[in-house]
Amino acid sequence: MAKKIKLGLFGSTGKMGVAIRQLIKNSSEFNAFLEVCSKPTGDFDLSYINLDEISQQTFKQVDVWIDFSRPEGLLELLPIVQQTKKPLISGTTGFENNQFSKVEACSKKTAIFWASNMSVGLWTLRQAIKTLSTISHFDFALEEIHHTQKKDNPSGTAVTLHKDLEKAVGKKIAPAVGHRLGGVFGIHTITAASQSEMIKLEHNALNRTVFAEGALKAALWIVKQPAGLYSMDDLMTIKRKK
Ligand SMILES: NC(=O)c1ccc[n+]([C@@H]2O[C@H](COP(=O)([O-])OP(=O)(O)OC[C@H]3O[C@@H](n4cnc5c(N)ncnc54)[C@H](OP(=O)(O)O)[C@@H]3O)[C@@H](O)[C@H]2O)c1
Repeated sequence: MAKKIKLGLFGSTGKMGVAIRQLIKNSSEFNAFLEVCSKPTGDFDLSYINLDEISQQTFKQVDVWIDFSRPEGLLELLPIVQQTKKPLISGTTGFENNQFSKVEACSKKTAIFWASNMSVGLWTLRQAIKTLSTISHFDFALEEIHHTQKKDNPSGTAVTLHKDLEKAVGKKIAPAVGHRLGGVFGIHTITAASQSEMIKLEHNALNRTVFAEGALKAALWIVKQPAGLYSMDDLMTIKRKK
């Protein structure tokens, strides 16, 4: 039987942390090795509240980190990842100013996979956006809805879609309008309209498992990758590249 991948989870008490923990319970591929969080969940071999309580020896045993936290949390994890040259999957969003440049710098030393949205469906929607180049003269609007506890607004995904859309149609588009309503997991809508017709492209996440599955798929893949910054494009085109 293949050796299980020892997982370090950053943000295990959070909503995405819960989704990851559910998927790795009884997993034949992952060992819930280490969590760093304010309250131990009882699901991991080792549990720490702060990174500075953890020995280098323990850090070295982690095969891959998954992070769903906050930018300031991720920035604390990066030096550990860099020193120990362990791969990292991060879905954290809401970066300000040049915070993300620290992720880019760290990826020169170790493999980092970052995506604002780890769902297969959302990636497919991003491919569909490229086809809007044929109607670049239309008017466009972006909208997103998330649960009321979501911190960043517009969402990281909406920021990504906005960049994709501007690139596809070759003109400036107003930033996404974000709504914070109830328990919505995430709805992203692109509307394109002319005087005669209207198109809507929409992705609706029906649960958080979809993001957690993407993160675990990326974790299985990244353990074999050299240093570099990887994205959903890399993960979704693996077969085609082979
Ligand atoms: N890429 C994707 O597919 C995707 C999907 C969903 C969400 N997200 C993003 O993932 C992140 C987490 O989302 P969520 O819904 O799980 O949020 P959440 O429920 O608020 O959970 C946040 C988690 O991060 C921890 N945390 C917060 N600040 C921290 C810090 N400074 N240092 C260390 N840990 C810290 C919290 O720990 P304690 O509560 O224990 O302090 C908690 O476990 C957000 O940025 C969200 O936008 C990405």
